[in-house]
Amino acid sequence: MTQIAVVPGSFDPVTLGHLDVIRRAAQIFEQVHVLVVHNPDKKPAMFEAGERVRLIRASLEELGEVGDVRVGEWTAGLLVDYCRSVGATVLVKGVRSGEDVAYETPMAIMNRHLADVETVFLLPDAGRSHVSSSLIRQVSSLGGDVTPYVPRVVAAALAAR
Ligand code: PNS
Repeated sequence: MTQIAVVPGSFDPVTLGHLDVIRRAAQIFEQVHVLVVHNPDKKPAMFEAGERVRLIRASLEELGEVGDVRVGEWTAGLLVDYCRSVGATVLVKGVRSGEDVAYETPMAIMNRHLADVETVFLLPDAGRSHVSSSLIRQVSSLGGDVTPYVPRVVAAALAAR
């Protein structure tokens, strides 16, 4: 049976830090599903879910061959319901700092209790540890240069706002 790992997130928008984690996950797992998921704790998004999916797909194309990576969105409920529906047993999350570990730990334990889905933490490239979607949105909206941190398609989509 193909081992499927899910890389979930808001991806509003996807950054080079996310793509680094997706690429690493694809080196470890046979098939990776990048999933745009609603985060109930976050304010309304900058990009619609469908646009975030399109930007991830275009970014993966821009990066070139990364393995068996599929991209979709999940609005139907719990993340683990998606995992069950496709037979995924692993979630992959990138952690940049101790704060990220503290934020992710309760969700990882809850997802294991809910559906026996394990969470694997990957460390993204250290040079990208300060990059987050929220910071990218802020810098871009105030006229700063975000091109070192996002793929070209994302930089163009931000500039069009
Ligand atoms: O990129 P983010 O915003 O840090 O990703 C968080 C996300 C979307 C993965 C998390 O909020 C999530 O899993 N939402 C789906 C709803 C759900 O399953 N909640 C229970 C998790 S324990």
